[in-house]
Amino acid sequence: MRIPLSSPDITADDIEAVVSVLRTPRLSIGPKMEEFERSIADLVGVPHGIAVSSGTAGLHLCLRALGVGEGDEVLLPSFTFIAAGNAVLYERARPVFVDIEPRTLNLDPGQLERSITPKTRAIIAVHTFGHPADLDPIMDIARKHGLPVIEDACEAIGARYRGRPVGGIGDLGVFGFYPNKPITTGEGGMVVTRDSQMAVTIRALRNQGRMESDGWLDHRLLGYNYRLSELNCALGLEQIKRIDDILDRREALAIRYSEELQGMPEVIPPPLEIRDGRVCWFVYVVRVENRDTIFKRLTDQGIGCARYFAPLHRQPLFAPYLNPRDDLKITEQVAGKTLALPFFNRMTTEQIHEVCCTLRGAVRPKT
Ligand SMILES: Cc1ncc(COP(=O)(O)O)c(C=O)c1O
Repeated sequence: MRIPLSSPDITADDIEAVVSVLRTPRLSIGPKMEEFERSIADLVGVPHGIAVSSGTAGLHLCLRALGVGEGDEVLLPSFTFIAAGNAVLYERARPVFVDIEPRTLNLDPGQLERSITPKTRAIIAVHTFGHPADLDPIMDIARKHGLPVIEDACEAIGARYRGRPVGGIGDLGVFGFYPNKPITTGEGGMVVTRDSQMAVTIRALRNQGRMESDGWLDHRLLGYNYRLSELNCALGLEQIKRIDDILDRREALAIRYSEELQGMPEVIPPPLEIRDGRVCWFVYVVRVENRDTIFKRLTDQGIGCARYFAPLHRQPLFAPYLNPRDDLKITEQVAGKTLALPFFNRMTTEQIHEVCCTLRGAVRPKT
């Protein structure tokens, strides 16, 4: 691609941090993991951070630690990445899809309560594209029904909802550090929580079911190897030092995009304003008619883009879980229109201009 969809931002310091771990004998379960866990927990303002091998692993462990199991129902948006839905299926629970708000594309709190049944065991609120979900009403409904909330903040490191960092508002939060994310560890994730008991359980589950006090060959729980290596943690630690600059830079890029798109009514930009909060600009997603045609025209011209998201309820994997009571009107309306444009830390304003010129040509082809 002439201009890629995303691109990791790796500095000389990042490389040195990883290489220096290779000069030590501790390549896993060591000081870098502890430091990385502390730095993310501090960023979020909670006591516990548990590094895991991916965001998906983190979501899985949250559901497992909450005791979600066969026949239980978990509420989540259909308009999201596959990981949250998969984590529900790993535990043989049933995903129940809730519709989204048309503006932010996040879970619509007004649609949540009608989907709660006696079988509901948890709610997954996703901060879609790094835009904070409307957590106050979501938490009110969850508390009223005694349900835990997992924040899927995989796309939203550093985002703030009404002045509070996302991830630490629900009962459990999960971040992701795949290379397309603003902060990367190569592969990796982090569970954050205020709940000390949950933290103990999740730590054991990610490490083959060993409690902290157990020896290497003591296993009390059915656990997993969902650990994150010292190399990944060293990279994350180095990257997280730059979080403020990275978020500022990405916000400036988003504003630039929206300026460039003024005067192109065929392309609807994402909302820039947010009340008393902060977006973590993970991707820049516009809405266009004839999205698939535009997608092809752009990729044919070397502009990396993606059809974020293909809703879960349309995936064959999830077809058996569809319920006639699921009303996914907004999801259906927007899912065929959303298009993620190239977006990465080191993107230049010239590249944004080039993407927007190519986009203009794609939505207004010469006949
Ligand atoms: C909203 C959301 N949840 C979960 C994940 C899963 O994270 P990972 O790829 O680290 O497993 C992603 C990853 O892109 C995501 O975008």
